[in-house]
Amino acid sequence: MNVIIRGESRPFRTVEFDEQKNQVRLIEQRLLPHQFKIVSTRDYQETAMAIKDMIVRGAGAIGATAAYGLAQGVCACVDSQPVRFARHVQQVYETLKNARPTAVDPVNAMNRVLAGMRQGHTVEEQKKLARAEARRFADENADECQAIGRHGVSLIRNGMTILTHCNAGWLAFVDYGSATAPIYAAQRDGLEFKVFCDETRPRSQGATLTAWELAQQKIPHQIIADNAAGHFMQCGEIDLVIVGSDRTLGRTGEVANKIGTYTKAVLAARHKIPFYVAIPFSTLDWNLNSGQEIPIEERSGDEVLGAWGTNSQGKRHYLRVANPSSTARNPGFDVTPPELITGIITPAGIFKPRSLWANRKKLGGPQ
Ligand code: MRU
Repeated sequence: MNVIIRGESRPFRTVEFDEQKNQVRLIEQRLLPHQFKIVSTRDYQETAMAIKDMIVRGAGAIGATAAYGLAQGVCACVDSQPVRFARHVQQVYETLKNARPTAVDPVNAMNRVLAGMRQGHTVEEQKKLARAEARRFADENADECQAIGRHGVSLIRNGMTILTHCNAGWLAFVDYGSATAPIYAAQRDGLEFKVFCDETRPRSQGATLTAWELAQQKIPHQIIADNAAGHFMQCGEIDLVIVGSDRTLGRTGEVANKIGTYTKAVLAARHKIPFYVAIPFSTLDWNLNSGQEIPIEERSGDEVLGAWGTNSQGKRHYLRVANPSSTARNPGFDVTPPELITGIITPAGIFKPRSLWANRKKLGGPQ
């Protein structure tokens, strides 16, 4: 998508790979919206740290980063003895997988890279295949998000106000975004509408990232406090909700997404407002049998007890807000049950959450 730099609009992807230097290139998302900066990771450990520290975040973006990180780690291995090489590959895989637990995209993305590598007979062939498969995953992620836009745009009408939670925009993917793809498509089709961005405490991805993205694309939007959505729904000021997901269970239709999503789904059901979830294929988990099995990331309480911002010198700065002696709990995600979800917007069309399993062939699931 486009970023305005010194008055000029330029296209960027969230994640890229420099094959010459064997480096992953990332937008430093912790500095947005105050500063736009690209950083490079020099080895797979740095790539894993970039995921853990949320330089890059969002399910599809960390999926592509993990795929490139695996290729990066594989290509850096100087040992071509097959058993030691395989052990190294496993170590790289585990390091990247453990960086963040809730999103399934990194695992799905890296499994694809491993499957691609298996077609190679020599270590050199496998390295080449790892790079090619990681690139293919990233390109497909962008294409799938565009397809989500083509299907999801049918839900948007002139004059609507659309609520979105957290950031399932292009910064959370390689390009276009999932929840925002129908919004960008609607703008291209000349529709007039407005977006409410939940601020999404504690890390404020809605207030910082989604709002920045929409501003770059000149889409009318307003940031609302997380607690305000119920009020606006009651006043008839929200017509449609579209959110993303970090893991959607193909067997049950349960949706893990940023903390607070479940609350919004309950409110939307109460007010009979359509509630949609937009996902590429890599967000589908075909293995788990229950949302209770989804690993929910529990992050540092400091995120709840204070907030990060940028000072007048452009430096990131943490400000303690809460009572000094208090501690906090900070689950990063929650699980929304299928009965609260109107539909799942995928690159293959819009499905009822409980029909995902029956449609698994179309959705790239198991046979
Ligand atoms: O903790 P984050 O910022 O990596 O959380 C991921 C998200 O941004 C959201 O949960 C999003 O809605 C789904 S990711 C496409």
